[in-house]
Amino acid sequence: MSNETKSNPSGLLSWLDHRYPLISTWNHHIGQYYAPKNFNFWYFFGALALLVLVNQFVTGIWLTMSYKPDALEAFNSVEYIMRDVNWGWLIRYLHSTGASAFFIVVYLHMMRGLLYGSYKEPRELVWIIGMLLFFVLMAEAFMGYLLPWGQMSYWGAQVIISLFGAIPVIGPDLATWVKGDYVISDVTLNRFFALHVIALPIVLIILVFMHIVALHQVGSNNPDGVEIKKYKNEKGLPLDGITFHPYYSVKDSMGVVFFMFFFAVVVFYMPDGGGYFLEAPNFEPANPLKTPAHIAPVWYFTPFYAILRAIPDKLMGVMAMGASIGILFTMPWLDRCKVKSIRYRGVSYKVLLAMFVVSFVVLGWSGTQPATPETTKLARIFTATYFLFFIILPYTSAREKTKPVPERLT
Ligand code: HEM
Repeated sequence: MSNETKSNPSGLLSWLDHRYPLISTWNHHIGQYYAPKNFNFWYFFGALALLVLVNQFVTGIWLTMSYKPDALEAFNSVEYIMRDVNWGWLIRYLHSTGASAFFIVVYLHMMRGLLYGSYKEPRELVWIIGMLLFFVLMAEAFMGYLLPWGQMSYWGAQVIISLFGAIPVIGPDLATWVKGDYVISDVTLNRFFALHVIALPIVLIILVFMHIVALHQVGSNNPDGVEIKKYKNEKGLPLDGITFHPYYSVKDSMGVVFFMFFFAVVVFYMPDGGGYFLEAPNFEPANPLKTPAHIAPVWYFTPFYAILRAIPDKLMGVMAMGASIGILFTMPWLDRCKVKSIRYRGVSYKVLLAMFVVSFVVLGWSGTQPATPETTKLARIFTATYFLFFIILPYTSAREKTKPVPERLT
């Protein structure tokens, strides 16, 4: 489609465009969306998150064609998919590996935000909608993990749902209400299935749509943290911007090719991610009478799980775990530095961010390990440094010695 036909369409396109805002939508979000010209590696992950989302939808729909949401049949229906359904093993591994890929991509996507201050004015809402996405994604993954009805599905859900029981007064009733039964049962499986395949995916789609609309309202940030809307040419177009299509559509396709290569290697050669993506006990059917020796959630939950376990009191642990996620919502206000990109920020932010990343990784590792005095001590130290990041940041960021920020993109 040349630019001329876009602004002056004819034939079918013209007929459609009179009845539906096809061309203006295309132009607003793709053809004439001006993005900063200096996007780097970190800017691939939004597009990759979209790609993984589509993968989860497509493979998920195909899985439901043979999966049975029934406590007596669920485990065997997954085995049936793996052994008897044509290409079923591939569809299942694309979906289960896709779940872990989703979190890898989203964590890197969030990291980009922390590096370049993408949560700062005027993108606070983009960040908050992103955090809502992260929250719903965690719920989606948690409910999906119950569906194969393996040992870890069952006992993992048991541990997490029992956390509701720690809430004073209403806790025990709330836990029963979530399960729909006094124990995790067929009823629980049925409702998790409904939420996993219909309710939460709809919420995810709506949030992704809102995330991108909010971003395109204010425009993208970039590795220099410079607002490109400040300098425009006589036509009102940003001097340092390039249109999303064809420049970033082509560039993002390169990212997609690289991603698919690594993704395929894992799917074909290590689909269980060495026990991290699909845990060994989950290859055994759920047995309510036999607790596995060591219960751990999937790796993407383990940083928060480690915070939960680090605190001896159950209610305080649950609150700390909730706070460790909730506090991320407030980043746009905790960080009071005017400079966005880490390239021009002071030493204090670099040190704090490094401490935060190390804490997150160490907590993630410790959450995968059985609780011993050593791992508990480690988790306590890094829970403290995790929260220290958010506690110190408002103070240091207001006083940071920053470098001069260039007027235009370097
Ligand atoms: C399903 C999950 C998500 C999808 C599909 C998604 C998609 C996208 C896309 C396509 C972009 C534009 C391209 C880019 O800048 O990389 C973007 C930008 C952004 N996203 Fe997300 N996102 C998701 C989750 C999140 C989360 C969890 C956060 C953080 C809490 C977040 C924060 C942001 C921010 C701040 C931007 C603007 C970045 C900038 O301009 O520098 N997103 N997202």
